Amino acid sequence: MTHSLRKPLGRYAVLISGSGTNLQSLIDANERGEITGEICVVVSSRADAFGLERAKRHHIPTAVINHREYSTREEHDAALQAILETYQPDLVVLAGFMRVLTPAFTAYYGDRLFNIHPSLLPAYRGLHTHQRVLEAGERKHGCTVHFTTAELDGGPIIAQARVPVLPTDTESTLAARVQKMEHPLYTYCVHLFMAGRLRLDTKSGTVLLDNRPLIHGELDMEWPST
Ligand code: GAR
Repeated sequence: MTHSLRKPLGRYAVLISGSGTNLQSLIDANERGEITGEICVVVSSRADAFGLERAKRHHIPTAVINHREYSTREEHDAALQAILETYQPDLVVLAGFMRVLTPAFTAYYGDRLFNIHPSLLPAYRGLHTHQRVLEAGERKHGCTVHFTTAELDGGPIIAQARVPVLPTDTESTLAARVQKMEHPLYTYCVHLFMAGRLRLDTKSGTVLLDNRPLIHGELDMEWPST
């Protein structure tokens, strides 16, 4: 059987709420030519997010959406969608966007909405993952890139990166180790999607790589052993 892969895509949007180190690594990968396509807009849920500054330095259009200006989540997400639609993104990348999205929004962008979460999902959904991992005495931790559904930190998993938890770790040393892996992992997943090689079959919920089901763990990354 022969397949033709989907054409490379052109534009992706990045949604942030904070520092934007994942955004920066995507910008850097774009500038090195490692990702096909460009960031068409960066939307932040906070006006003071440093990620906005990073976008401006690279002449990327920015927008801020303040949830306090909307009386319902539905109105907020409709306004967010309206901003995004002016840029017609092929992919929407959640990079530390700390708002839970409505079913209408996640359904609209269902097969082109990525999230990165700082845990080895399905373990440790939600907030304060590093602290909870330390409290539970885990030996392994990491991050997950996934397609996004309306369920909190839910959706078909694309790839995970694992890091060790060291006996001397604090929340901040562990978070830094996880973030070091988030950057190459997210960049690689965005690259595969934008190159037309990665997609979601929404009927079955199967992640496809080069038109065949992704093998569990095949895109995963490991913390380099010393
Ligand atoms: C990242 O660690 C990301 O995994 C996390 O927010 C951080 C954003 O950092 N996302 C979530 O917790 C989503 N549930 P950054 O602004 O430096 O990219």
